[in-house]
Amino acid sequence: MQLKDQLLRKIEDRSACIGVVGLGYVGLPLALEFANAGFRVIGYDVSQRVIDGLMAGGSHIQDVPAAEVARLVKAGNFEATTDESRMQEMDAISIAVPTPLAKTRDPDMSYVLAAADAIGRHCRPGVVIVLESTTYPGTTRELMQPKLEAAGLTVGEDVFLAFSPERVDPGNAKWNTKNTPKVVGGITANCTEVASALYKTCLDTIVPVSGTETAELVKLLENTFRSVNIGLVNEMAIVCDKLGVNVWEVIDAASTKPFGFMKFTPGPGIGGHCIPLDPHYLAWKMRTLNYKTRFIDLASEINSEMPAIVANKVMQALNEEKKSVNGSRILVLGVAYKKDINDMRESPALDVIRLLEKQGADVSYHDPYVPKFHEDGHEYSSVELTDKEIASADAVVIVTDHSSVNYQRVVDLAAVVVDTRNATARLTRGKGKIVAFASASAYATTTR
Ligand SMILES: NC(=O)c1ccc[n+]([C@@H]2O[C@H](COP(=O)([O-])OP(=O)(O)OC[C@H]3O[C@@H](n4cnc5c(N)ncnc54)[C@H](O)[C@@H]3O)[C@@H](O)[C@H]2O)c1
Repeated sequence: MQLKDQLLRKIEDRSACIGVVGLGYVGLPLALEFANAGFRVIGYDVSQRVIDGLMAGGSHIQDVPAAEVARLVKAGNFEATTDESRMQEMDAISIAVPTPLAKTRDPDMSYVLAAADAIGRHCRPGVVIVLESTTYPGTTRELMQPKLEAAGLTVGEDVFLAFSPERVDPGNAKWNTKNTPKVVGGITANCTEVASALYKTCLDTIVPVSGTETAELVKLLENTFRSVNIGLVNEMAIVCDKLGVNVWEVIDAASTKPFGFMKFTPGPGIGGHCIPLDPHYLAWKMRTLNYKTRFIDLASEINSEMPAIVANKVMQALNEEKKSVNGSRILVLGVAYKKDINDMRESPALDVIRLLEKQGADVSYHDPYVPKFHEDGHEYSSVELTDKEIASADAVVIVTDHSSVNYQRVVDLAAVVVDTRNATARLTRGKGKIVAFASASAYATTTR
């Protein structure tokens, strides 16, 4: 096992050259962890814009400070390239390319396949390759391994192949790439050993598992767990709304149970690159085996209904003011998919805006993290949150509760506030009506 021992030695003494394929939310922080651990790191991405930005010492990822990129580029620990032939230099390759869904909700594996093809073209014996992109169980063995074998390499002997799911939580100040435990499962025991040794150099805790399918399923269980629990609590919000009970009070009280309960909160729907997508990878895989994943389908159904429920709330609130959605000015607060980040991918705000516009509303938005975005060929720009902007809206809809917004001012000035996040719960009631989403008891007009 000369190749394995040589590679382990290179990892141990930091002489290994580490490659990261795909420098986005997952790949860039990982590349910098390796660079900070003393390795020479080459980041490979197909986007010239991404590469140019990084080589100029910039950062396109909110949680990654540009100064850190600049420091590591200058020190020679990190460089970024669009030249795939640089893969020949890499002793370890982590792949973090997108795994979106096709319109039919089937996995779009084109990015993983393109990365695997490129690696197949340039890989040599003595390299460890780790797929990090979230995917269905079987991908590493069924899609990745054949590409390496087609290049004449035997997995487990010449090269080492593993899957290790990324668990990054954008905007989370406590848990980051370094201190979040990392699950690693290889095609063979040797593969698990080498991949674990690689990640041990820069991450605090490694959790080896028995194989790639297990590691792939770990990620899908985690995100299906979130999707199902968010679906459950969203349904509870609908239930509470119909019963006239404040769902937030119910959840807070239930959360005092010291065991057997985990707090999830309702909202306008789910967003981001993970929760709305990942469970469908598993659902798709199981469909190929003639099994229907009912929890996944039901959670997805409930979660994707939430933007329509929000739009309906806006309609009801305006109706009580003897106004129609058609012709009303509606100000949406927050369009990123969750608070204090700038990621718009799959954001439920897009659906809320689309549904309100479809009914004839004149919709504007404010989001300190998203100055502009494009949707359906239309460019939207964040408006300044002036007193006039708040007061002149027929309704203000809090879709994402960024911390930097002064909600007391919103409540003081707005005619109607539809609050999907409970951001107004502890505020002094202002002049207008607050419709606390999922709390029918808060329907009454409240005046100071
Ligand atoms: N964003 C998250 O919070 C998160 C968390 C856990 C897991 N994941 C998973 O990690 C994977 C990557 O997600 P992300 O959010 O980092 O995506 P991203 O879109 O932020 O970044 C992906 C990068 O890969 C590049 N790319 C595309 N095709 C390529 C190719 N063939 N070769 C090299 N580079 C290529 C893109 O240009 C882009 O810069 C996905 O499978 C995702 O599900 C994401």
